[in-house]
Amino acid sequence: MRVSVATAGGTSSSLFTVVASGIQAGSGPSVIRTYRVAMSGLNDLYKRLAASGARILSVSPAGEESPAAPVAASSAPAPQAVTSAPAPKKKSHANVPVNTYKPKTPFLGTVTENYSLVADGGIGRVQHITFDLSGGDPQLEYIEGQSIGIVPEGEDANGKPHKLRLYSIASTRHGDNYQDNTVSLCVRQLEYKNEAGEQIYGVCSTYLCDIEPGSKVKITGPVGKEMLLPDDEDANIIMLATGTGIAPMRTYIRRMFEPREREANGWNFRGKAWLFMGAPKTGNLLYDEDLLHYEKEFPDNFRYTKAISREQQNAKGGRMYIQDRVLEHAEEIFAMIENPKTHVYMCGLRGMEPGIDEAMTAAAAAKGLDWSELRPQLKKADRWHVETY
Ligand SMILES: Cc1cc2nc3c(=O)[nH]c(=O)nc-3n(C[C@H](O)[C@H](O)[C@H](O)COP(=O)(O)OP(=O)(O)OC[C@H]3O[C@@H](n4cnc5c(N)ncnc54)[C@H](O)[C@@H]3O)c2cc1C
Ligand SMILES: NC(=O)c1ccc[n+]([C@@H]2O[C@H](COP(=O)([O-])OP(=O)(O)OC[C@H]3O[C@@H](n4cnc5c(N)ncnc54)[C@H](OP(=O)(O)O)[C@@H]3O)[C@@H](O)[C@H]2O)c1
Repeated sequence: MRVSVATAGGTSSSLFTVVASGIQAGSGPSVIRTYRVAMSGLNDLYKRLAASGARILSVSPAGEESPAAPVAASSAPAPQAVTSAPAPKKKSHANVPVNTYKPKTPFLGTVTENYSLVADGGIGRVQHITFDLSGGDPQLEYIEGQSIGIVPEGEDANGKPHKLRLYSIASTRHGDNYQDNTVSLCVRQLEYKNEAGEQIYGVCSTYLCDIEPGSKVKITGPVGKEMLLPDDEDANIIMLATGTGIAPMRTYIRRMFEPREREANGWNFRGKAWLFMGAPKTGNLLYDEDLLHYEKEFPDNFRYTKAISREQQNAKGGRMYIQDRVLEHAEEIFAMIENPKTHVYMCGLRGMEPGIDEAMTAAAAAKGLDWSELRPQLKKADRWHVETY
């Protein structure tokens, strides 16, 4: 099924066109039918169609139907010519750079800075690390939402060179210095106690957190097309981040609101951006000062909602997670999601996915919608983007 990513806004009373194929009574040939319904009636229609064995081919705001899925003028179901289902249109991303540098022949980047992102009272180590990419042949280029690989120095327990680890890029393609020749990461040092009670530190995250400016680092990639921003300057962007999952969100937000970055990118973002950020302590709110600054400077375009798990409590008295914040703002979030211009990005701990799903299920149900049906439609329409690790 295709869900339009067209540009019109939408409310619960907005009309939608649903195209479905079904079996004619008396086991006749398959027919294509079109229905016009308000957003609030979509769920009921989906259920009726599913019960009758029909297959939904596309859903689009009324007036923006694809020529491949003609619409009958009347709201009554009208039999159409038998046709095959149009393939869902996905953005090709053909020009997005991938795997310019591979593990066997990595690019050697030079560390230019490495500083802590954890403020007083924060837990653990999280570093912002920048690498100079100049001199590459070919030049290592990337765009917002991609990741790079880092191959740490040394060997593993079997005497083999370490394998690469992926890190989400935290700088825009123009870099923190706007010179188009650097890439930055936001890295948490992995630390945990093993079964024997020994303190273990992650290989690559420790290598990166400790690295000194001037050091050469093996870089691969870039990789990833899941977290790319839409081109549309009027898009709305909902961001759900935990911990270092802020990295791609930082690139989007800088692309949207940082004046020198805007000059460099010529992308005149006019939509609404809403960041939900989850961190254990206030001191772990990464890039907090910048985010507060953008919120102050762009109050009509940027909203910043925090879930500080070890300092705030949810309604049940438990740790405040971003899914609790999603539930608190369910009405507004769904009003945004009904708008085909709205994209959702989730990044950070894999463990947050079920919680977000649960919150979205409850929020959708309050609107008479079924999240288990809606989410795949959003995904197919390239409006639901997830990168968790
Ligand atoms: C697409 C993608 C993007 C990523 N982006 C980022 C990013 O922006 N920032 C960032 O910091 N990380 C990011 N990561 C994670 C990163 O790739 C590494 O996995 C992370 O830094 C740990 O690597 P390491 O070499 O330090 O740990 P390793 O030495 O490889 O140790 C990891 C291993 O330790 C074990 N382990 C881990 N935790 C525990 C535990 N609590 N108890 C017992 N065993 C445990 C597991 O076996 C695990 O495989 C990303 C991952 C992916 C896939
Ligand atoms: N040693 C420590 O005390 C400590 C502290 C922070 C992170 N870490 C480790 O650091 C890694 C993650 O680092 P990070 O920088 O990406 O993130 P991070 O700074 O730990 O932030 C992740 C945030 O997500 C919360 N969270 C945990 N489970 C969640 C869930 N199921 N749904 C939604 N939110 C959830 C965390 O809460 P809570 O952690 O409060 O439950 C925290 O507020 C993990 O390996 C974690 O174990 C260790």
